[in-house]
Amino acid sequence: MNKRDAYIEIKQEQAIKDGVLCVCKQVTERKIRKVVREGRKRFISVKQATEAGSGCGLCQPIMQDIIDDELKK
Ligand code: FES
Repeated sequence: MNKRDAYIEIKQEQAIKDGVLCVCKQVTERKIRKVVREGRKRFISVKQATEAGSGCGLCQPIMQDIIDDELKK
């Protein structure tokens, strides 16, 4: 394994431990829920506020689920 792959693997393990949802931007689920509670109800505004989802984009469907879940409360 090269250094880059080793770094990515460590980052991903850390991300799971810390509750990081968006690995690219290191944004936690807690942070996303917080901005939704503060009034950002749309995906695009959550993305702008946190930068989550603005890298590879793989976390975007999960982000939307969390936004929907938070808005149900
Ligand atoms: S994991 Fe969120 S943009 Fe890549």
